[in-house]
Amino acid sequence: MAEQLANTEGEPPAIAALSIAETATQPVSQAVEQHIDPWSVSAGTDAQGQALQFDYEAISKKWSTKLVDDALLERFEKLTGRKPHRWLRRGLFFSHRDFDLILDCYERGDKFFLYTGRGPSSGSLHIGHTIPFEFTKWLQDVFDVPLVIMLTDDEKALFKDNLTFEETMAFSRKEAKDIIAMGFDVKKTFIYSDLKYVGYGGGHMLLNAWEFSKLLPFNQVRGAFGFNESTNIGRIFFPSLQCVAAFGTSYPHIWGDDPHSDFRSADTAAIPCLIPCAIDQDPYFRLVRENCNRMGNPSPKAALIHSKFLTALQGPGGKMSASNPNSAIFMDDTPNQIKKKINSHAYSGGQETAELQRELGGNPDVDVSYQYLTYFEEDDEKLADMYAKYKSGELLTGELKKECIRVMQEYVTAFQASRAKVSDEILADYMTPRKLTWNGNPNPNLELQKKHAAAATKARKELEKERKRTAKQKK
Ligand code: TRP
Repeated sequence: MAEQLANTEGEPPAIAALSIAETATQPVSQAVEQHIDPWSVSAGTDAQGQALQFDYEAISKKWSTKLVDDALLERFEKLTGRKPHRWLRRGLFFSHRDFDLILDCYERGDKFFLYTGRGPSSGSLHIGHTIPFEFTKWLQDVFDVPLVIMLTDDEKALFKDNLTFEETMAFSRKEAKDIIAMGFDVKKTFIYSDLKYVGYGGGHMLLNAWEFSKLLPFNQVRGAFGFNESTNIGRIFFPSLQCVAAFGTSYPHIWGDDPHSDFRSADTAAIPCLIPCAIDQDPYFRLVRENCNRMGNPSPKAALIHSKFLTALQGPGGKMSASNPNSAIFMDDTPNQIKKKINSHAYSGGQETAELQRELGGNPDVDVSYQYLTYFEEDDEKLADMYAKYKSGELLTGELKKECIRVMQEYVTAFQASRAKVSDEILADYMTPRKLTWNGNPNPNLELQKKHAAAATKARKELEKERKRTAKQKK
């Protein structure tokens, strides 16, 4: 039993309902700590009740993730020949687990795949939702690898009392079309609704989930997600499914394996997986990293690359919310709505009047229009120029907002043009379980590949021996 609870990589136990005491040393009156778990995220407030920015370094430290640093980005550029995405350069994707091992894998020309997902909760996306997908599409283009996108309509119906399974399935279809509009290559991309694929899509995903659930004692899941005895048992089982989505064997058709066989391929299980996600999803994947090597056919620890949360229009402490249209730019907003929202709701780091702004300058670090430009303006120099000019007072708030409006209108309009072309037939193409085709690294290092294959075979044999020994001892 103790072995089941043991933590294999010196990470803290998977505790998601984390609180970071940013104000622990101050005499606390009404200070509230930041809170992050997969279902609710809120920034802290200081003793005066002022909203604080999220402290991402503190989260990374607490959860023992690694920060993305220059050395990692340099290696990425060297191996792929591509300049790192602006969201990597500018720290929006700021943290990772084993991204370096994925780069090793790419260098050798070994197989790996990308996995990301979304809980379909409303049928309409805002810009915050599109970020992980845009980024994943870019990774798919750069690495040229298969990608699976999980739509957790089961999760949403289980965790939201007011949503039925029928409603969340309908959201899956709608949101899948939005996701497709971001331009994923259909030959390399499989998008699935949990309720449909796991239910009657054929394959081994449910089998994997049952096997994985057998490895997870309730107290590990309770610790990770704060469940108690009154929690419905669907919620308790669900993490198992989100975890096994990182196993290659959950998608036999992608690799040309037989989905109807009782047996899953050990080689397919050994294919590594990289998960781009917002940091709040990390607790799920700590569970998979802690237990994946205990599966009958072990899988390597899933690698992760984590993003920050996108700032709401209202600034620090605000939350982009589907139920508050003024909190975010939605992907179905008209150009005029975007203009109005930014002009009247985007939190400004500027001064009260143009005169004061000229005299004192503004604060781009808290200015939401500037933040959005850092997400969507590609040109580093232009951005640095705006930063300096806003700070010195040369650039006025209205001018900065105008630039932000232009860039956001462009992004949303391009999306809408692409979305209009996604028919039901195209949707069906992406959502059909099938063999995918990809090329991977065009210049693999075959020397490294050979060495690694030999080491992996040896490790597998040793594990086999070890397992036989323990099985004997138990008898
Ligand atoms: N649980 C996620 C949500 O509610 C959806 C999800 C499933 C996901 N698998 C994922 C997100 C992998 C990122 C990566 O939105």
